Amino acid sequence: MKVLVVGSGGREHVLTWKIKQSSLVDEIFCAPGNGGMSMIAECVDIKVDDINGLAAFALEKKIDLTVVGPEAPLVEGIVDVFEKAGLKIFGPGKMASQLEGSKVFTKEFLKKHNIPTAGYRSFSDINTAIDFLKEINYPVVVKADGLAAGKGVIICENAAQAREALDQIMLQKVFKDAGNRVVIEEFLRGEEASILAISDGEDYVILASSQDHKRIFDEDQGPNTGGMGAYSPAPVVTPGIMCRIENEIIAPTIKGMKEDGCPFKGVLYAGLMIDNGRPKVLEYNVRFGDPETQVVIPRLKNDLVEIMRASCEGRLKDMPLDWDERIFICVVMSSGGYPGAYEKGKTIEGLDGVSAREGIVFHAGTKKDGDAVLTSGGRVLGVTGFGVDIAEAIDNVYKVVEKISFDRCFFRRDIGAKALKRVNETQNTSASAGN
Ligand code: AMP
Ligand code: GLY
Repeated sequence: MKVLVVGSGGREHVLTWKIKQSSLVDEIFCAPGNGGMSMIAECVDIKVDDINGLAAFALEKKIDLTVVGPEAPLVEGIVDVFEKAGLKIFGPGKMASQLEGSKVFTKEFLKKHNIPTAGYRSFSDINTAIDFLKEINYPVVVKADGLAAGKGVIICENAAQAREALDQIMLQKVFKDAGNRVVIEEFLRGEEASILAISDGEDYVILASSQDHKRIFDEDQGPNTGGMGAYSPAPVVTPGIMCRIENEIIAPTIKGMKEDGCPFKGVLYAGLMIDNGRPKVLEYNVRFGDPETQVVIPRLKNDLVEIMRASCEGRLKDMPLDWDERIFICVVMSSGGYPGAYEKGKTIEGLDGVSAREGIVFHAGTKKDGDAVLTSGGRVLGVTGFGVDIAEAIDNVYKVVEKISFDRCFFRRDIGAKALKRVNETQNTSASAGN
């Protein structure tokens, strides 16, 4: 098979790395790819939003399967264009991609199908929204309806902040047309977890749980980023909670989408808040998470291409998944200044000194320059390590991180600390219960 991977981040490097291991695959192309992907596949210079260019390339090269990393082309309808051209592509169509492309669509869908989520109201008129601010308790969360590169969610402690958020989104249009409508929703407390499920529109398989670290600084301080690290499994998702997530969230979502005439094929990413054992949907994405993929996919023992093909062909029923039981953890190494302004073009040292026994270095914002690898983005590398328990995994991943360096490199030093605390607390509780 010939496979085309669309995208250029850490997530796409993991997908390419995993697809490369499939016995079904002979050749992989990446559009546009990055430094790491160029070492294991052929990169072609087509941008992710050039849907017609991608389809023309897939037709010319007789690509058997296209895998889309980022959300923007999915929401724009890349799957519909490819399928119309007779090309096999893994992902949801334009209608189903509204689960990420429109927060209003998603909230209405969740409400209609009785799927647990924060209480909300949606508005297309700023004055009605402003009136609503007088009636509610704080904090609240104000969300732009459309895609806003992860920046469209504003947590507001009081009415003044919520008013400011509405002004920015609906009047100043800082997220352009994504701000034509807003959702104002209840602020949820608890611990977040990410659950990925792959569906063929009817049946689904649920992947191992994981947890992201969205803030730039240790102890979840500072601005939000694309994600500074992750681990899998997430101890907050106990087997009992996983059961609730499947029965109350994933199963009714797949069933509801089918009933509503837009069956969901591809990866459904559920961002969840878990409070006192109760999971609620914070958001849906319609693609793999980044950096969650860096810890979930290396644990998957099955052939991912087989699963993706089954998703495209409606054959996911009774496909058991097999997992590496170890704990996987990813530390993102970023350019100093990210998520604000940062410099590019720094030489990355130490990449050759990492063996597969120690960890896996996934590239995000990198490019090859002769034999050198240079930084070319905010999130530069995702270093994935593993261990028999979370303490060993943390130890191992940071040993690999310490081997790699570039000018003004920045990474969080507390990835996994929350999981370690939770595991220790659980062990202490069961030890004292046993006494
Ligand atoms: P989203 O883009 O919808 O994933 O939101 C980004 C982040 O905002 C989430 O990962 C949460 O940390 C936070 N968030 C979103 N909605 C809520 C909510 N209702 N309550 C608390 N935090 C939220
Ligand atoms: N890690 C968050 C996301 O992929 O949206």
